[in-house]
Amino acid sequence: MASSPIQRLSVAFFQKLRRLGISLKCKLENSPRLRAWIDPPEELSTPAEKYRKFNEGYFADLHTQERMLADQPRMQFYHEAISRHVKKGDRVIDLGTGTGILAAFASRQGAERVYAVDHSSIIEHAKQLAAENGIENVDFEDVHSSKFYLDEPVDVIVHEQMGDYLFDEAMMTNVCDLRERLLKPGGLILPSQFELFCEPITLHDERRVPYIWELEDVYGFDFSSMERSRPQDVDYYRLVSCDLGVVKHFMTEPAPIMKVDLHHISEARLPLKVKFTRKVTQAGILDGLVVYMKAKVDDDLVLSSSPLDPGRAPHWGYRILRLDQSYAEVGAELEVTLTVEDWSDPDTWEWYCGQWGSE
Ligand SMILES: C[S@@+](CC[C@H](N)C(=O)[O-])C[C@H]1O[C@@H](n2cnc3c(N)ncnc32)[C@H](O)[C@@H]1O
Repeated sequence: MASSPIQRLSVAFFQKLRRLGISLKCKLENSPRLRAWIDPPEELSTPAEKYRKFNEGYFADLHTQERMLADQPRMQFYHEAISRHVKKGDRVIDLGTGTGILAAFASRQGAERVYAVDHSSIIEHAKQLAAENGIENVDFEDVHSSKFYLDEPVDVIVHEQMGDYLFDEAMMTNVCDLRERLLKPGGLILPSQFELFCEPITLHDERRVPYIWELEDVYGFDFSSMERSRPQDVDYYRLVSCDLGVVKHFMTEPAPIMKVDLHHISEARLPLKVKFTRKVTQAGILDGLVVYMKAKVDDDLVLSSSPLDPGRAPHWGYRILRLDQSYAEVGAELEVTLTVEDWSDPDTWEWYCGQWGSE
């Protein structure tokens, strides 16, 4: 990170030169010592730094990008959001531009200038695509957003920084940082309203995979002793799926465990413990808790990754936090507790579900 004010000034200075069309391929900028001072190599000591490096590589992959571009509900949501809310003359930051598609939507909508920021090498493709498609008012900035500077704040920030667990792509950190530094008072974040769900579920019988020790009778073989070998690895207790045929039904009436509006919230204000009690409305085997998200731009413009929503955006997975199997009858009370150290790091999540009132 550029940490001192002089370093920040230097980064901003070189960004400005680039925006003015002055090549950075000058002697100064090519000096390895100067580059290392302006943009020191990252130390990957914290989980956030390690994630950032992973993210940079992950989104350089064309298949990752094509899955997002082929996700029709996602694309329609963003196309409509930008058509409705980006106005002629707006200055826009596209945080994490990828192939540049949201920047292109904003440009076509009449934005005066779009700053398309991405730390991954995919931005080279974005530049080429823009040139080939006749887009001229987009500045491509190949930096991490925390190192992106402007002299004047913008009207709109567009972003697609939602992970399967909503916060696990550092959306809060990245968007809130830009909001504080580079968004006009009263400026718009698209999208800004999110709901996070954590619903008790029953899986379809033919799709259920219980814990290995719960397979008591495998063609006459008893596996229950495997419980002594319960894995310590947190990944074992979470399943990921994009498949609509896995979850049979929610056991209680779905309700968000958290609502955030990125215009106002800060990461520090997210609660680190969420507890709720709900009555079972549909009986079944309690297989786990499914985590998914919704993003809202207007009442009639909502993006969903719910496993039971036929219009769900299919490239997002949903996550199942596994539970020891139990049966829950209608009317039973489920009490769910989710404790986290860091919402952006699902490895720090711990969950528990107690039940009362079933036989
Ligand atoms: C989910 S993709 C969205 C791509 C594109 N906006 C779209 O909608 O198709 C997120 C993109 O953000 C980039 N990214 C993530 N965090 C970033 C950050 N803090 N600064 C710059 N780029 C970032 C990734 O490299 C990736 O290309």
